[in-house]
Amino acid sequence: MYKIAVIPGDGTGPEVVAEGMKVLEAAGRKFGFKYEATTFDFGGARFLKTGKTLDEGDIAELRKYSAIFLGAIGHPDVKPGILETGILLKLRFSLDQYINLRPVKLYNPAFCPLKDKKPEDIDFVVVRENSEGLYKGMGEFKDKGTKDEVALQISYNTRKGVERCIRYAFDYCRKRNKRKKLTLCGKTNVLTYAFDLWERTFYEVAKEYPDITTDYAHVDATTMWFVKNPEWFDVIVTDNLFGDIITDLGAMIQGGMGIAAGGNINPQGVSMFEPIGGSAPKYTGKNVINPLAAICAAGMMLGNLGETRAAQAIERTVIDITATKLKSLAAGKMGYSTQEIGDLVVKGL
Ligand code: IPM
Ligand code: MN
Repeated sequence: MYKIAVIPGDGTGPEVVAEGMKVLEAAGRKFGFKYEATTFDFGGARFLKTGKTLDEGDIAELRKYSAIFLGAIGHPDVKPGILETGILLKLRFSLDQYINLRPVKLYNPAFCPLKDKKPEDIDFVVVRENSEGLYKGMGEFKDKGTKDEVALQISYNTRKGVERCIRYAFDYCRKRNKRKKLTLCGKTNVLTYAFDLWERTFYEVAKEYPDITTDYAHVDATTMWFVKNPEWFDVIVTDNLFGDIITDLGAMIQGGMGIAAGGNINPQGVSMFEPIGGSAPKYTGKNVINPLAAICAAGMMLGNLGETRAAQAIERTVIDITATKLKSLAAGKMGYSTQEIGDLVVKGL
């Protein structure tokens, strides 16, 4: 019996989470697993009412769950930064979800903005470090507000933090398929402390994985190759900020935010799965947002819980619907409503 914590959150979060839950229920019936879902109201609306983001008690409660299914955090009436750091990053950090796993896979070439790319050309996974780097929030102002002001923002990289991420990436790459190629994405030519540590750790750990081909690409070149030669990539490992940036580009080449899902993973603890598109306020409540990213996130969650057959069936169904039914992956242009797409996946399963 899995205990699933559901955080629908803000904007279109509740709409897409509802479709994800519909698919979860259908998958449970078909593949014979049981779960109990508990909904939490963390998000912008609750913050505006109570001034609360997430406290230690909430974190302690969430630790009791098998996994967390998250919709979106972000509210137009709340100043940027409060909900992101107070809820999303707080969850990632407190639950030590040190991996952010983002598959980039093209399901239908018609939805790819790149010319002449086929599904087999765009099929890679980004392993983003999710607990350190520039996201650590370290830094300070000096002489704030004066013309001599200096703002420091520190990228915090520990050997242990970097190594556990790199090891996860090697292990993941070994299991993934026959290609077995791991690329370190960095900026060794400029960030001579942080990526010196990353590079040394990468090649030291690589000695334990002789079956994996290693490669290195600077982050700027990586964005170029995502567009020019995405077929070069199998698994990419990178730091928190670079991972954030390149996975938005990854989402676009796989067909857009409507299909992009991610997992915040603590291999020994509670992991959290989310569509990466955000709260999309302008589409809220209109039944037009694409729920496939959330449905894919639910599939990833099942895979992570060990329900491999269910996870694979959800992915196959999403591929089929994306390839044969949808007019577009973009909100309002899919040829179906949010709920109809959820129903299509349930029927497909
Ligand atoms: C993401 C988002 C978050 C991040 C924001 C909302 C803090 O962009 O999940 O990629 O930067 O990690
Ligand atoms: Mn992002």
